[in-house]
Amino acid sequence: MNSIEPSPVVEAKGARIPVLGLGTWELRGRACARAVEQALRLGYRHIDTAQLYENEREVGEGLHASGVRRDDVFVTTKIWPSHFAPRDLERSARERLAQLRLSEVDLLLLHWPNPKVPLADTLGALVKVKKDGLARHIGVSNFTVALIEEALKATSEPLVCNQFECHPFLDQSKLIAECRKQGMAVVAYSPIARGTARNNEVLKRIGAAHKKTAAQICLRFLVQQDIVVIPRTSKVERLSENAAIFDFTLSDDEMNKIARLGSRDGRLVDWAYSGRMKWD
Ligand SMILES: NC(=O)c1ccc[n+]([C@@H]2O[C@H](COP(=O)([O-])OP(=O)(O)OC[C@H]3O[C@@H](n4cnc5c(N)ncnc54)[C@H](OP(=O)(O)O)[C@@H]3O)[C@@H](O)[C@H]2O)c1
Repeated sequence: MNSIEPSPVVEAKGARIPVLGLGTWELRGRACARAVEQALRLGYRHIDTAQLYENEREVGEGLHASGVRRDDVFVTTKIWPSHFAPRDLERSARERLAQLRLSEVDLLLLHWPNPKVPLADTLGALVKVKKDGLARHIGVSNFTVALIEEALKATSEPLVCNQFECHPFLDQSKLIAECRKQGMAVVAYSPIARGTARNNEVLKRIGAAHKKTAAQICLRFLVQQDIVVIPRTSKVERLSENAAIFDFTLSDDEMNKIARLGSRDGRLVDWAYSGRMKWD
């Protein structure tokens, strides 16, 4: 297995987040542990998991089996909204660490907003978890512009990122602009549009000119804007493919062509997904 180039990092409010990470949603059991171990052996240095994915134990297994030093890997997990009441949040954070077999995570996120618990209370608990040394950094996921502003008013502690759906087929320009204004990193989930980017003719054509695949063009489009990407794959050959995005540059014309693929209703993961579990 050839190793990959070290990933550049995106810096935000003291956090240094490797711009390429491995997503793990829907990776389960042995396949998950194996994908994490292989990714780390290959040179990935950022792993994204969540309470919801029910795979933190296997992510931890892959992490420990890889032999990569703990300090060299950036581990993110997320707390599900049904645990946003302050005492629940703290309990859930400790549970996440026990599952992962880690003493702290690098980044702990609120997975989706929960309108049923006051945001200030949840953020207070998140800050306490950070101050107690369970998480190096904290942030949010699936927050809108209005919710980001509410969150920043409610805490003086840095929120280092917003993780949200972001790929060429979805216009997220307003949310990206808000994150930049607030100094927060943008972490793109479903960055290859849940695999569908591979069939897009514009991406394929631009890819042919660079001897790259449509998926690589899609990821390059994001990282070239300093957006962190966390593509998921269970296949070793795709781990290398998704990492080979730092040895070429898209022209302004190519970037503009890809940007024009975006629409306001290009969402693939929506609130229906968050409704899969009850919040209360
Ligand atoms: N915060 C949130 O609410 C939230 C929501 C959704 C996702 N996420 C995070 O973001 C990560 C990524 O998003 P995602 O899993 O939804 O979708 P994604 O990474 O955009 O796409 C994953 C799909 O693409 C396929 N794939 C991977 N590399 C490929 C390549 N080079 N060419 C063609 N197909 C390829 C994978 O299949 P194979 O396995 O067969 O390769 C899989 O079916 C998640 O795993 C999770 O960690 C967070």
